[in-house]
Amino acid sequence: MAIVFGGKGSEKFAHSLARRIKAKYAEPIVSFFPDGEIKMKIPEDVKGKHAIFVYSFHPHPNAVLIEALFALGAARQLKAKKITLVLPYMGFLRQDKMFHKGEAMSNRIVADLLSRANKVITMDPHLHRIKSLKQIFKTGTKKVTATGIIADHIKKKHKKSIVMGPDEESSQWVSVIAKKAGVKSIVLKKKRYSARKVKIVVKSKIPLQGKNIVLVDDIISTGHTLIEPIKQLKKMKVKSVTCIGVHGIFVENALKKLKKLGAKVETTNTIQNPAAKIDVTKTFAEVL
Ligand code: R5P
Repeated sequence: MAIVFGGKGSEKFAHSLARRIKAKYAEPIVSFFPDGEIKMKIPEDVKGKHAIFVYSFHPHPNAVLIEALFALGAARQLKAKKITLVLPYMGFLRQDKMFHKGEAMSNRIVADLLSRANKVITMDPHLHRIKSLKQIFKTGTKKVTATGIIADHIKKKHKKSIVMGPDEESSQWVSVIAKKAGVKSIVLKKKRYSARKVKIVVKSKIPLQGKNIVLVDDIISTGHTLIEPIKQLKKMKVKSVTCIGVHGIFVENALKKLKKLGAKVETTNTIQNPAAKIDVTKTFAEVL
């Protein structure tokens, strides 16, 4: 028997997942000691059962990490038969290298800690300099992708469009989505100077004037990776711009900034946000 537990911020997603796999739904009870230490209670008897914990690393990734670790630890102490960690959006993956001397490689540290689960399932993890989750986790992993669902969404809602990836990393999603949706694609080049400064030049062999452009990226964080091309596309007099992100983090009013530029914004529901219109719980349910 399986019980799905919705972590803070992931309740809606976890609830829908529980319904899909016909499992019981509950939420870990989190409180804090006067000095700020976290305290956790698992409100269901998980002994001998499959405990599935759902944690998306947003809006407070550090706090989510601690909660997830406590949930895993508690389920072990309570003798769960199997512990699965469902991470609709897994954070800490972009710091995958010692960019400057002395920096911690967050992806390895976090994967190591989460390897206390029997299995980790996550969607479109940001794998750039490492190619597989197996390189950093010490437990079973399963990578699922939103590309199929996004391609279907484009087929239905943005039929006559050109799919555009803002940087070379996005080509892994963009090429698959465009092929499945039966539309043309373009991948741009990005140079990142800092977390908030990027340079992208829109170059295309296909004429873009009057076209509907769908910009696709895995993560929309500060939004600068999309803001840069949108500004140029507007000057090129395209008909419309839609931004589709797998994970809509939207920090520093990114959603408002993108909308102010006249772009439509749509994301999957790996993170609860007002633009989360594309439901991917089915993909996780299929794996579970
Ligand atoms: C970068 O490596 C990712 O694929 C995204 O392009 C990036 O995380 C987006 O960040 P932001 O929205 O802050 O430009």
